[in-house]
Amino acid sequence: MFVHINDRQYEARTGEQLIDIARNNHSHIGYFCGGNGICQTCYVKVFEGMELLSPISDKEKAILSDELIQEGVRVACMTTLDKLGTVKLLTTVEEVKRTFETKPLDLIPYQAKMGWASLVKLPETIAMQAQRFSDGSLSTLQLINDIAGAIGGALELIFMAVQETFGGKSRSQAFTRQYIPEPRKSDKGKADATEDEKLSYSAFHESMKLQKHVPVN
Ligand code: FES
Repeated sequence: MFVHINDRQYEARTGEQLIDIARNNHSHIGYFCGGNGICQTCYVKVFEGMELLSPISDKEKAILSDELIQEGVRVACMTTLDKLGTVKLLTTVEEVKRTFETKPLDLIPYQAKMGWASLVKLPETIAMQAQRFSDGSLSTLQLINDIAGAIGGALELIFMAVQETFGGKSRSQAFTRQYIPEPRKSDKGKADATEDEKLSYSAFHESMKLQKHVPVN
């Protein structure tokens, strides 16, 4: 099935979370808490295929105002692809970026709306998060680890974008570790990938290269 994030099409499988599809494809999306449903930076607005996604959960309802829900906003780290089809969405960070580039003054009412939406849900959100901590469904250690990972990933992308802007060659160790399978090792520990495998690794590396103007996700 296909997911269109910020007007780019990516392949995805049922069972995947929207946040993972976005991150795996370097889409412009916020994920400060590393996908733990805390930071609220991973909002997406769904334009098509809402019926293919997991039903909105009580946790999402505790975060999103009725107005945002009616507009098709979902929390990407709490939303899963449930059925085959095509889903089209825009991340809110990309929405802000586009608004800033085209109609910067519109950001004032936009931020006021989002701020108000967060404010009216604040008591419910705090209660829901406290419940998650107390029932053990949210691990403090895992949260710290995920936040550290998110910050590290963001810093690396910024570094790479700056490097590429000034004509340097970027090296993406984090992405290669994360998304590229290691070649098989022989008993003696030497890489023994076949020529086909080597070609496929190389093609994969090419496909994962960041473009010059890729947004920092
Ligand atoms: S990544 Fe933080 S709320 Fe989704």
